[in-house]
Amino acid sequence: MENGGTGENSGDKRIVVRGGQRLCGTVAIGGSKNAAVALIAGALLAASGDTVLTNIPRISDIETLAELLSRLGAKVAFEGDGHTIRINASGLHEHKAPVELVERMRASFWVLGPVLARLGKAIIPQPGGCHIGARAVDLHLKGMTALGATVTAEHGAICAYAPKSGLSGANIYLDLPSVGATMNIMMAATLAPGETVIQNAAQEPDVQNLGDLLATMGADITGQGTGTIFIRGVESLHGATFAVMPDRIEAGTFAAAAAITGGDVVLENARFADLRAVLFKLAEMGVEATDVPGGVRILGNPGTRIKPTRLTAMPHPGFPTDLQQPFTSVLALADGVSIVTDTVYESRFNYLTELAKLGAQVVADGGRQAVVTGIPRFSGAAVRATDLRAGAALIVAALAADGETRVYDTFHVERGYENIVGKLRGLGAHIGREDD
Ligand code: UD1
Repeated sequence: MENGGTGENSGDKRIVVRGGQRLCGTVAIGGSKNAAVALIAGALLAASGDTVLTNIPRISDIETLAELLSRLGAKVAFEGDGHTIRINASGLHEHKAPVELVERMRASFWVLGPVLARLGKAIIPQPGGCHIGARAVDLHLKGMTALGATVTAEHGAICAYAPKSGLSGANIYLDLPSVGATMNIMMAATLAPGETVIQNAAQEPDVQNLGDLLATMGADITGQGTGTIFIRGVESLHGATFAVMPDRIEAGTFAAAAAITGGDVVLENARFADLRAVLFKLAEMGVEATDVPGGVRILGNPGTRIKPTRLTAMPHPGFPTDLQQPFTSVLALADGVSIVTDTVYESRFNYLTELAKLGAQVVADGGRQAVVTGIPRFSGAAVRATDLRAGAALIVAALAADGETRVYDTFHVERGYENIVGKLRGLGAHIGREDD
């Protein structure tokens, strides 16, 4: 689970779905969770001025990170209806991140680069996060070491110290195009004199969004969003006003919900270009996706079974691993056998035991590949969200299940989806919450 599950929010909350409704209408896609957490960490780099980030999703991960920034000495305030965050990091002084916040979400570890670059030292506990694989941080550390830092692991925390002369630019090759490592290295390098080149960098749009924010804050950075990023260190960064990009994973989740119900849904604010791999896959599954003004329209076929396909999750521009689970739910109702492979995480099929409770016939082979034999319909049951996207996948499945499905442990879902119940209800789903 991305949330360590140790906090107060691990209470017995449930989402109850009565399946069988065709979803129709327009749903507003919010700001990207993964971009927002990176942008908030990036705001720590500003030695002067406020950084105002708009289109922030109202989800628990953002609250956790905001609290972490405050504990490090930044001033953090939510404005308006909570979708804007104002951060002043001029008073950043604390280099140790508290374990109880970092263990709740992996992205807390993204503060390593900015804190090290600003203060010359950082002690960040090993991050928590969804239990979907080993999720090492070795590439983050390789990057910091290349920039000149001395990095050790002590008592469960990563300790990084810049040399007296400060960090300096370096040529860094990532063995894997890790999103988090690319972001962490980018942030640290903005203040490291000389040129840093990150090769085999992650190309996710979230990385591009972060790079664009850093440029607006005064960083000298190019190539973000491609496999090679160039950064020339500057003396200091300043605050800026910047919008978080739309959440392609939330959009893809609603696309899966539309597909599985044979619905007709406009994903308002979604960007076609960010979703290309997903929309191609939908077309293969017999679901139409079109670029419409202000969003993307998903048009399913009521009464017609989804077509089976081969789906391989891989780094961008491949099919996103975060949508592998919701799409496996859809393929579990296809008219034939699909093969789903996840090249990014080795344990992202653990939730299949829960999907099986709804009747799915899926066999995972050694963790990375699943054979999905489509069945005509799911049958509602009690299931447990084992991680964030697993929770979303179970809700998607429940929308097409006979009778009632209760999804337990939905605090995982709240970490990443703002008002998923209200948004699905707005499209006609019969869905509600039950809290103890
Ligand atoms: C980010 C996203 C997550 C998404 C993932 C891949 C955030 C907050 N999270 O996670 O939703 O699923 O990208 O698109 O943005 N790895 C290493 N060593 C490292 C770092 C990563 O071996 O130092 C491995 C991981 O174990 C994993 C793979 O690389 O198997 C990809 O991980 P990475 O891209 O780093 O994912 P995150 O940045 O953690």
